[in-house]
Amino acid sequence: MKLIVTGGAGFIGSAFVRLLLAGSEPVRLTVLDTLTYAGNLDNLAPVAADARYRFVQGDIADPAAVNALVEQEQPDAIVHFAAESHVDRSILSPEPVVRTNLFGTFTLLEAARKYGVGRFLHVSTDEVYGSIPEPHEADENYPLVTSSPYSASKAGSDLLALSYHTTYKMAVTVTRASNNYGPYQFPEKLIPLMIANALEGKPLPVYGDGQQVRDWLYVDDHCRAIRAVLERGRPGQVYNIGGSRALPNLEVVERIIAATGRDRSLIQYVKDRPGHDRRYALTSDKITRETGWAPEMEFETGLAATIDWYRQNTAWIERVRSGAYREYYAQNYANR
Ligand code: NAD
Ligand code: DAU
Repeated sequence: MKLIVTGGAGFIGSAFVRLLLAGSEPVRLTVLDTLTYAGNLDNLAPVAADARYRFVQGDIADPAAVNALVEQEQPDAIVHFAAESHVDRSILSPEPVVRTNLFGTFTLLEAARKYGVGRFLHVSTDEVYGSIPEPHEADENYPLVTSSPYSASKAGSDLLALSYHTTYKMAVTVTRASNNYGPYQFPEKLIPLMIANALEGKPLPVYGDGQQVRDWLYVDDHCRAIRAVLERGRPGQVYNIGGSRALPNLEVVERIIAATGRDRSLIQYVKDRPGHDRRYALTSDKITRETGWAPEMEFETGLAATIDWYRQNTAWIERVRSGAYREYYAQNYANR
């Protein structure tokens, strides 16, 4: 199996690459990543010497670069993780989000069509279903009702990818996962940001009342699900991937406070995110029924392992929290 993995230097893409290379499977992986603030070759250091892997720096929204790579590689499949993935950044600055998530996905689909790539797996999100009222859970046919430029761009790219199945009969599949957590996650997302701040005794900024609900999925469980869909998913289908562990944000923050030996005085309630979705909830019955996948990591164990990883990798945190990170932090959190 020869794969191009876009966004493979990011949080989930790099976990997928590490998972596929953990055994002795005869795979060939080419990571295509432009290395934005979120892309980091340190995430791929554990596989850097593996002869089955190579890294190509390039922009998925650059048709010349994408066409050249796909023509040269002739991959069996493209597994497409690359995206501008953060909701708050998409609110502050939507342009790169639209460019990468929509035009970048289009560019890859066109290259896959032109060079006859056998499979295209588009990695998407449960955010495309928007806020789900209690007691409902979204299945794959739930309406797409998006709130942020990020979620709208993901919904648009999902529909575009599926149209290549309907129109050009390409073997496209779309996966929609819930909130991921685990090692190597950029400290702009809730869990790594709270862990990094708590370890340093810094304030923990909770948006609004902190009662928004997210369903937490350990990153390796997500990657196993993607591998299952790549191997056994049906073309033209969408597969939800949930962690089966819905928690209000405040409870997640309180667990991090307890595990890092801090107290609640670090919590700082700040102005809510504009258009903030109140509750995400989805059912993963379809992927379980069709591929046998189910999440394995208990949230308590996964969170403890994640906190341990951040404790032991302070140099990684320091490197990714560069000047640009501090600028973003000030822009997003000052006067909030
Ligand atoms: P991330 O921000 O950690 O990584 C994104 C990667 O894409 C980075 O390595 C970045 O350099 C690369 N990239 C960005 N723009 C690019 C471009 N124009 N060309 C080439 N590479 C580019 O993101 P993540 O959290 O690992 O998310 C990966 C995918 O999974 C995204 O498509 C996201 O929408 C989806 N997803 C994420 C979550 C989550 O909780 N993080 C949940 C469900 C789905
Ligand atoms: O649901 C899947 C999605 O999960 C992915 O598609 C996105 O790529 C990923 O970023 C994530 O989106 P969220 O907006 O849910 O994740 P985030 O970590 O930004 O926020 C989680 C919740 O925590 C959300 O309700 C907002 C809240 N929050 C977040 C931050 C960063 C805070 O209260 N304070 C914060 O500082």
